[in-house]
Amino acid sequence: MATFEVNPSPPLVGEIEIGTAKNAVLPIIAAALLTEEPVCVLRPPQLSDVRLLCKVVESCGGRVHSAPDKLYIEARQILSPTVEDAMRRMRASVLVMGPLLARTGHARVALPGGCAIGQRPIDLHLKGMAALGAQVSVQQGSVELKGRLRGGAVYLDTPSVGATENLMMAATLIRGETRIENAAKEPEVLDLANCLLGMGARISGAGSGTILIEGVDALHGADYQPIPDRVEAGTMACAAALTGGNLLLRGARAEHLRALLFKLQEMGLRATETPGGLRVRGRARRPVEVRTMAYPGFPTDLQAPMMVVACATPGTSVFLETIFENRYMHAAELRRMGANIRVENRVAVVEGGALSGARVQSTDLRAGAALLLAGLCAQGVTTVEDPQGHIERGYEAIEEKLRAVGAPIARIEGASE
Ligand code: EPZ
Repeated sequence: MATFEVNPSPPLVGEIEIGTAKNAVLPIIAAALLTEEPVCVLRPPQLSDVRLLCKVVESCGGRVHSAPDKLYIEARQILSPTVEDAMRRMRASVLVMGPLLARTGHARVALPGGCAIGQRPIDLHLKGMAALGAQVSVQQGSVELKGRLRGGAVYLDTPSVGATENLMMAATLIRGETRIENAAKEPEVLDLANCLLGMGARISGAGSGTILIEGVDALHGADYQPIPDRVEAGTMACAAALTGGNLLLRGARAEHLRALLFKLQEMGLRATETPGGLRVRGRARRPVEVRTMAYPGFPTDLQAPMMVVACATPGTSVFLETIFENRYMHAAELRRMGANIRVENRVAVVEGGALSGARVQSTDLRAGAALLLAGLCAQGVTTVEDPQGHIERGYEAIEEKLRAVGAPIARIEGASE
C-alpha cells in the first residue's frame, strides 16, 4: 500500500500541527448511533481507520457525510449489520456493540480476528453487557447480544479502554444507574464522556477508576471537537529526540503526555508547555527504563517509537510491555538496521549504538511509524515497506509533516487513500 524512503536527518526544527485523536474520534463515531439526531465531529483526522468505522456505521443504517473539517453521522434507523467483513478488519468496530444494544435491544458483532500485537479478546465487553442484562451467544465467529438492559454494577478485570467505552455508551440509554469499576482513565475515555454529556447523557467520574452513568430516555445530537492526538504528538517528540531537534507540537497537551515527557527528560531532553502547544528540544543522551501501563502510565502505543530512541542512545535501556503480549515485532526489523535488542517474553533489553539503513517492513501501526523514525537517525538509506497500509491507519500525512521540519523522507510508492 505504501513505501517510504528515509535518509539521515538533520535536527528537526519548526512546528508540527497535531491532528485530532484517532482513538477519541472512533468511539465518538460509534456514539452517534445512540441518537436519531446528527452528530458532527469537528476537524476529523483523514485516516483509514476513521473511514473504515464510518463504513461499519453505514452498514448499521447510519448516514455519514463528510464536509471540509467536519464529519456528520446521522442514525435515524439502525440495525445490526448483516455484512460483517468491515467489522473483521478493524477491532475498533466492536465499539458499535454498546450503542446498537442500548438502542435496539439487539447487537450482532463479528468477533475480532487476532491482530499483530496480540489476541485482543473482547471477554470484558461481553461480561459487562451480561452484567447489565444482555443474553450473549457466540456462533460462527460472531457474537449476538439481546435483551432490554438495566442499570447495574460492572467490574473490569483489566482497565480496558474499549470495554469502558462500550459499557459507558450502552449505559447512557438504559434505565437506572450503572457503575463501572476499574474503568480505563485514558484521555480518550474522558473525551467520549464529554461528548456524551454534550448529547444529554448523565455521567460522572469519567477519567477516574469509577464511572457512574444515569440512563436517560434519549440523547440528542451535538457538534464536538475531540482532543488532539497524544500518540501522534509523542511520536513526533521521539523524532525530535532522535535528531537533536527543536519542535513546537502545535495543539499538543502536555497533561496527556506526562509519562513520555518525564522519560524523555530523564534522557536529556527539555519539554516546555507553550500557549500554542508543547515544545520539545535536545537530544537523548542517557538510556531509559520504560514499563508500559494503563493511563496515566507510559502508553503502550509509544513503546515502539521510544524503543527507537533507545536504540540510538548509548547505554542499556530496558522495556517491559505489560499491556499486549506480542508488541515487540518492530525489534526484528530494527535488528536488520543493526540494533542490539534482546527480547525475552515481555522484556526487551536495548544496547544503544549506531543504526544503519536497510529495507524494513511495517508490522503494525505504531511499529511502522517507529521504523520511519529509525531511518531518520540511521546511516545510509532506509526503505520502509508498508504493504498493509498500517501507517496511514493512524498518522495523517506523516511524511509531509516530518518533511516540513527538515526530514529527508518521501513516500515513493502508493498514494495515500
Ligand atoms: C485501545 O485499544 C486503543 N485503540 C489501542 O490503540 C491501545 O493500544 C489500547 O487501547 C491500550 O491503550 C483504540 O482506542 C481504538 P484495551 P483496546 O481493551 O480498547 C486486554 C493504536 O495503535 N483485553 O485497553 O482494544 C487486551 O487484550 C491502538 O492506536 C482483554 O483481555 O485496548 C489488551 O491486552 C493499538 N479483554 C489489554 O486488555 C477485553 O475484553 C488492553 O486492551 C478487552 C481487552
